Amino acid sequence: MRARVFSGVQPSGQLHIGNYLGALKSWAEIQADYESIFCIVDSHAITVYQDPAELQAKIRETAALFIAAGIDPAQSSIMVQSSVSGHAELAWMLTCVTPLGWLQRMTQFKAKAEKQETIGDGLLQYPVLMAADILLYQAAIVPVGEDQAQHLELARDIAQRFNSLYGETFVMPATHLPTVGARVMGLDDPTQKMSKSATGTGHAIALLDDPKVIQKKIMRATTDSLPAVDAENMGAGVANLLAIGQACDASITRESVAGMRYGDFKKRIAEAVVARLQPIQQRYREVTADSSYVDSVLAAGRDHILPFAEDTIRKTKAAMGLYVW
Ligand code: TYM
Repeated sequence: MRARVFSGVQPSGQLHIGNYLGALKSWAEIQADYESIFCIVDSHAITVYQDPAELQAKIRETAALFIAAGIDPAQSSIMVQSSVSGHAELAWMLTCVTPLGWLQRMTQFKAKAEKQETIGDGLLQYPVLMAADILLYQAAIVPVGEDQAQHLELARDIAQRFNSLYGETFVMPATHLPTVGARVMGLDDPTQKMSKSATGTGHAIALLDDPKVIQKKIMRATTDSLPAVDAENMGAGVANLLAIGQACDASITRESVAGMRYGDFKKRIAEAVVARLQPIQQRYREVTADSSYVDSVLAAGRDHILPFAEDTIRKTKAAMGLYVW
């Protein structure tokens, strides 16, 4: 049996270059070597209110972007979380072995809860559902950006606790981070992670941004008051732009940009980003030209992975002593 890879993206907001460099790019790079499953995690998105019609559209848009970014439906299964009921079923079983304190300690929970008037239970349960996503497929490798590392540690803790209570049931999933681009920061504020939900037009480069818009955003990105790139002493804004550039074009290095005036440096980075995103945007237009294509990919993905999910549900139920027919 080939080792399995699992990862997911929430279909909320606009997918940005951080999502691409932190996740989608490495998915495309490793997909051929594993049994690869890439998921649009719509059940995670509803932990905060989503407009229903918009969510449905975003699910398909996200799937189309996976394909456009190089996830090949012939090599990988692309599927929607809520189309496989095992995610929710396993999440419940895992909830029952997860101490409340583990969930209350999660930094993303604390940050998101601060922004809500009423904190939904789903927000607290979020990482348990995420553990269920991964463990349902017995995934050995989970390629993500750095912001998901704490959730993955929790997934391992939950798996370990389950295995020690009920016997070996789950494969221990390893975190796979990209070497560059694991944590892309906001262009307007390099102390904040680039985020789908953050507003502000200068904050994120969306994967579907027009080349001119990309250029403008990068030219306006926050740097420091130096005139040129100091390779020995880079401010956070410059270092962030360099990381984005490097991840888009390997010929961009610290040495190659040393001493460049900020205007020229930013132009070089913008060029690299546009060159990287243009074929993705072109492919996106092709993929979405036929309105039934994405749905057929999602149906095939689901059909392929359903037996894996059913197998784990049966095993987990049996381990816990639940009714298995
Ligand atoms: P989400 O939708 O916030 O982000 C999707 C992927 O993009 C990465 N990412 C970033 N990488 C670098 N720099 C950034 N600024 C940046 N912002 C986001 C994320 O690390 C992620 O890999 N909880 C997850 C979705 C999820 C999941 C899973 C992931 C649900 N179940 C199981 C892996 C395995 C999330 O909200 O990702």
